[in-house]
Amino acid sequence: MHEVLPEGGVIRKLWIGETAKYREHVLRLDPDSRHSRFAGGVSDDFIRNYVELTAGLDIVVHGFFVNGMMRGAAELRPLGARFQRQAEAAISVEKPWQSHGVGSALLRRTLLAARNRGFRLLHMACLADNQRMQQLARKFDAELSFDFGGVVGEVESSRPTPLSVMREMMSDSHGFATAMLELQSRMLRA
Ligand SMILES: CC(C)(COP(=O)(O)OP(=O)(O)OC[C@H]1O[C@@H](n2cnc3c(N)ncnc32)[C@H](O)[C@@H]1OP(=O)(O)O)[C@@H](O)C(=O)NCCC(=O)NCCS
Repeated sequence: MHEVLPEGGVIRKLWIGETAKYREHVLRLDPDSRHSRFAGGVSDDFIRNYVELTAGLDIVVHGFFVNGMMRGAAELRPLGARFQRQAEAAISVEKPWQSHGVGSALLRRTLLAARNRGFRLLHMACLADNQRMQQLARKFDAELSFDFGGVVGEVESSRPTPLSVMREMMSDSHGFATAMLELQSRMLRA
C-alpha cells in the first residue's frame, strides 16, 4: 500500500504500553481540533479517562508517528454485541500535520482493519460544520445523513479476502520494521 506522508512520518498500529503516546497526542490537539474530535468541549481530565478506557477495550488504534511522537490517530471501536458488525471510527491529526494527507491515510488503514474484522458498517460522527472531515469521508464514498445537527457517515465495508488480510499484515510488518530502525538510530545518536 503506497501512501504519500509528510517526511519522516509513518503509520502503524499502537502497541501495548504506548497508551501514554496516544494520551499526549490527544492532549496536544489545539482547541478547535479537540472540539471537532469530541463534538464539543472536553477537559484534560476527560481525555485522560477516555484514553485510559480505550486501553482496556477491544479497540484498534493506528498512529501517525514522526520521530517517535504520535501526531495523528485513528480509532476503530466496535459498537458491541447489540450492534454486531458495526463499529465507530474517529480520527485526529495535530494542526501542523493537517491537510497533508495524513487523515486520508489513517482512514484508509482503518477501513482495511474494519473490513478484515468483519465490520460491515462504520459510523463516523462529526459536527455539521466539520467540512474537512466530511470531505475526507466523501473520498471514501461515505453516505452522509444529518442527525440532530451532527453528521453520521456510514461506510459499507467490503467482505474480507485473503488479499485484504495480507495487505493489513504487510502494513503491520512495515510499521514494525520502521519503528525498530528509528529506535536503533535514536539509540545510536544518544
Ligand atoms: C478531519 C481531519 C482528521 C482530517 O485530517 P487531514 O490530515 O487534515 O486530512 P487530509 O489532509 O487527508 O485531507 C482530507 C480532505 O480534506 C479536505 N481538506 C483538507 N484541508 C482542508 C481545509 N483546510 N478545509 C476544508 N477541507 C480541507 C481536502 O479536500 C482533503 O481531500 P483531498 O485530498 O481530496 O483534497 C483533521 O483535520 C483533524 O484532526 N481535525 C480535528 C479532529 C476532527 O475533526 N476529527 C473528525 C471527527 S472524528
